[in-house]
Amino acid sequence: MTLSVRICILSLAAYALAAQDQTAGQRAYDSRCGRCHGGDGRGSDMAPSIFRGLGSRDDAQLAVLIRDGIPGKMPGSKVTGDELTALMAHARLLRTRARQRPVVRETVELTDGRKLEGELLGQGFTDKQLRSNGQAYLLRRATGNQYREVTSSVDWPGYNGDPRGNRYTEMTQITKANVGGLTVKWVFPIPNGARLQGTPVVVKGMMFVTDVNQCFALDAGTGRQIWHWRRPITPGTVGASSNRGVAVIGDRVFIATDHAHLVALNRHTGEEIWDVETADYRQNYFATGAPLAVGNLVLTGVGGGEHGTRGFVAAYDAQTGKEAWRFWTIPARGEPGSETWKGKDIDHGGAPTWLTGTYDPELDTIYWPIGNPAKEYEGKDREGDNLYSDCVVALDPKTGKLKWHFQFTPHDLWDWDATETPLLVNAMWEGKPRKLLLHGNRNGFFYVLDRTNGKVLLVKQFVKKLTWATGMTPEGRPIKAPNQEPSAKGTYVCPSQDGASNFYSPSYIPSTGLFYFQAFEKCSVYTTRDQGDWAPGKAYLGGSQQTAPGIAEHYLKALDIQTGKTVWELPQPGPAQGWGGTIATATGLIFFGEENGAMMAADATTGKPLWRFETNQNWKSSPMAYMFDGKQFIAGIAGGNVLAFGLPD
Ligand code: HEC
Repeated sequence: MTLSVRICILSLAAYALAAQDQTAGQRAYDSRCGRCHGGDGRGSDMAPSIFRGLGSRDDAQLAVLIRDGIPGKMPGSKVTGDELTALMAHARLLRTRARQRPVVRETVELTDGRKLEGELLGQGFTDKQLRSNGQAYLLRRATGNQYREVTSSVDWPGYNGDPRGNRYTEMTQITKANVGGLTVKWVFPIPNGARLQGTPVVVKGMMFVTDVNQCFALDAGTGRQIWHWRRPITPGTVGASSNRGVAVIGDRVFIATDHAHLVALNRHTGEEIWDVETADYRQNYFATGAPLAVGNLVLTGVGGGEHGTRGFVAAYDAQTGKEAWRFWTIPARGEPGSETWKGKDIDHGGAPTWLTGTYDPELDTIYWPIGNPAKEYEGKDREGDNLYSDCVVALDPKTGKLKWHFQFTPHDLWDWDATETPLLVNAMWEGKPRKLLLHGNRNGFFYVLDRTNGKVLLVKQFVKKLTWATGMTPEGRPIKAPNQEPSAKGTYVCPSQDGASNFYSPSYIPSTGLFYFQAFEKCSVYTTRDQGDWAPGKAYLGGSQQTAPGIAEHYLKALDIQTGKTVWELPQPGPAQGWGGTIATATGLIFFGEENGAMMAADATTGKPLWRFETNQNWKSSPMAYMFDGKQFIAGIAGGNVLAFGLPD
């Protein structure tokens, strides 16, 4: 044996010892951290628990925190090498110990006399959550010590509830007459959650809510946690600071990660079943959208419009995780459509797919909204219309083949993603029943398309202030106003970059024929600047944008879909920073996240406010509805809190 080999074996052995020897790790931890964070890591009057901070850091990130400390709060530590390794292993062991709830087994008697034996997951005064043979049961006390199983009779099975994206519920318990008595039934705080963007999904009594790389399964009747899946934040992703939720197929829950993986989880236990990489995050890909379930396929998209990726929608087999197809939102060089990109940016043209699409089971067609082209504010390296940026595309779910496309903003220079929900309704149109697609676009126009072929039936401006176009051709192509391109000295354009509307959900009520959505009146100053070539890890913008002072208005609006005219609007005072979506009920109510943080209900016919609950959180999400144990709930995520509302018992 040569000397070098022997040294190598020795140091390996030392490493193994350091990692396993908890005494060394404990000693290092106790002397350097324990006095503030407590010997068990649970915190003291000096410092909070370390567990949350550990969960969100890998070892390299934790080593940096230990070395640098937190200015003014936590001193840095000069611990290195084996001692550092042992210290970190011990800190993680403390977290594992704290998370290992002692397994409590219980036998519960059900009202039908059956006995249910299993692991107790949670309980309250009148409820229990039990896992038996790998399956989660939600129980409510009936009489004495007998329990009954409870579940949801009306689910909200995906991001938009119904795959057609109309955010309309036929439940009728909550009415204009009783909505004033609506109260909070439960709250679930998502640790560290802030301005969360998701919509809760409810399937078979369980609610699923997410944050980046985290999914919580809750008892939808009490908000009590059943399981929590989490993985560390991926170092070096460029933009994944949010997550909008899950898709569910059978007993599997699907979530996209910050580094553009798609993960399948067991609905009852939260255990991972499979994990596939949809794209390489080192090439600026990331994912934030809730996947869409279509038959046995899970569809997912990506972010990257600000980072010059090449967007796609990809479909995976729910059972195996195998890719079924992929639709690229930018044609490859030489393919049809590539002629709409003159210049080098065809290779890094963005056109991301970060908002969940909709699906029409009757026409068996997927409608996916596509984001902005890159460079965002500079068009000289992408002359032409830049297909399929800012489009809605109609895709065949069997093959992913394009059936048709419609582009709202050709050659966009203002970041006007078409990532607003393509809302699918069947309605009378000029005396005939028609299959329509409704779209309140970020560019300030409302569109009605025939969704069988993508032809425009109506385009109508819905904001008062709009400078970039002077009108529309009959085909729905904007007639652009002169001198509205971003410029070196700055160009004033309305609507603003935030858009006249955005991804927060619109809704539709068949009986009123009105399209309900939130709209901004704002303007921006767009400036171009040469920021160099595309590179991994870097934004690809070609300039910048600032909201222009002077105008900042926020409205809940109701448009007549036959004319595009505003039937009513509800102004919400404030800085026009609230991004709350809507849902509509068959009883003529619109629930929405209000500008100043209230969950609010308005009369769908008149816009009159009928009820509100102040959350004092800034909304960036859309509410939903479900029926649990015979009671109708309206739920949403305000800031970092999941809130479920219902009528008094
Ligand atoms: C003098 C007291 C003190 C000591 C010693 C100390 N910490 Fe801290 N630590 C704090 C305080 C206070 C905070 C909370 C800072 C804040 O509020 O942002 C903190 C925060 C943390 C966090 C969470 C950070 C986040 O932002 O998520 C972790 C993890 C952590 N400490 C680990 C350690 C480890 C490991 C050691 C030993 C090497 C250590 N600390 C030593 C006071 C201390």
